Amino acid sequence: MKKQLTIGLFGFGCVGTGLYEVLNRTTLLQASIKHIVIKDLSKKRIIDPGYFSTDADRILNDKEINVVVELINDYEAAYAIVTRALKAGKHVVSANKKLIAYYLDELVSLAKENNVSFLYEASVGGSIPIIRNLEEYYNNDSLSNISGIVNGTTNYILTKTGEGESFDEALKNAQELGFAELDPTSDVDGFDAKYKLVLLLKHAFGFTAKQDELWNYGIRQLKDWDATYAREKGLKIKLLAYGTRINNQVIGFVAPHLIPANHFAFNVENEFNAVVVEALFSDKQLFLGKGAGSHPTASAVLSDISALQFDYAYEYKKSKTEEALAFESDYSVKVYLSATSQEKLDQVRFIETLETYSGPSHSYKIGIIPYEEIRKQDWNNEPDYFLAIIPDSVELTKGIEFKETESAGLIEELS
Ligand code: HSE
Repeated sequence: MKKQLTIGLFGFGCVGTGLYEVLNRTTLLQASIKHIVIKDLSKKRIIDPGYFSTDADRILNDKEINVVVELINDYEAAYAIVTRALKAGKHVVSANKKLIAYYLDELVSLAKENNVSFLYEASVGGSIPIIRNLEEYYNNDSLSNISGIVNGTTNYILTKTGEGESFDEALKNAQELGFAELDPTSDVDGFDAKYKLVLLLKHAFGFTAKQDELWNYGIRQLKDWDATYAREKGLKIKLLAYGTRINNQVIGFVAPHLIPANHFAFNVENEFNAVVVEALFSDKQLFLGKGAGSHPTASAVLSDISALQFDYAYEYKKSKTEEALAFESDYSVKVYLSATSQEKLDQVRFIETLETYSGPSHSYKIGIIPYEEIRKQDWNNEPDYFLAIIPDSVELTKGIEFKETESAGLIEELS
């Protein structure tokens, strides 16, 4: 039976405002916002000021409020709110991927102990219903791979810079459109996508990844010569989150990829996200939709609220049924690596070189590199390099010796 939902909302930014608007426009839901807690009361709001206060107790101590919707930026403050709400027996809906990536298992246990639901569809892929599908649809099919574009801001920047806009201009527009995080480093350095990957790995494989296990590298160090290389070869650079399961080992990272025209992400532009799920029986399936922005993200929050009418809760079926999985770091991957000089390029050790170029402004190499070699550097803060993964090139390397072989010489040497 449908039940009446009385919502206490934390945060009234881009998604919070969007939620208010979509809630007002839908006729299908018996839900209303009773109170909204914000940080800054002096900001002008689009609705009756009577809704707002800065006092979390107004929501958390209100017995009539049975749903807390948490849409704030600060993940530590969100942790305090969400844990209190769950302990108070309130259902929680959140879009806070950082909070959930950091405290997933604890929050899941807390929700269970208190017999309430903790839902977070909006935290991955914006409007794309990927979590619910992983939970409900694939529970009898063994998943081997989940990857895709899960950050709207970087995809928007890559699209716009491809059309001639500068990086800074494109980022500024992404901020104005409400796509970017308050601190956009989280977007452009791949942290936001990594938090989302943690959630995807949990629901796809039943695996809880630790923050430092997953490598995240963004698009800040992309140079004009890398974009030119991609264009001339008919490729595109896209920031992809990648997760795969090989037997009981899980590999996961976020990095720019050099993708060909037949890749599923090639025509996914602007703030759109796309996630491909690969399963034993159903093979590959693509989920596509707007990954950021006010109404698309609010639509996922709305769907979670709506699910609460029927007491919906995630069951984490993969976590219960699958064998124990372990994170794997012993693998190699094919990459394109450019550097501001040949000397810099030579400082990175490859297992095998497939193509090299050395020129006056920069040099590059395409070859096979061990993950451990990649992890030696903080690539997000290495302005002399740009690295992109060649898709579907991950291979387990157990037992393979680290010995560089040059299977293709310099393709060009300019003085
Ligand atoms: N900053 C995020 C993005 C917002 O650009 O994808 C949606 O999670």
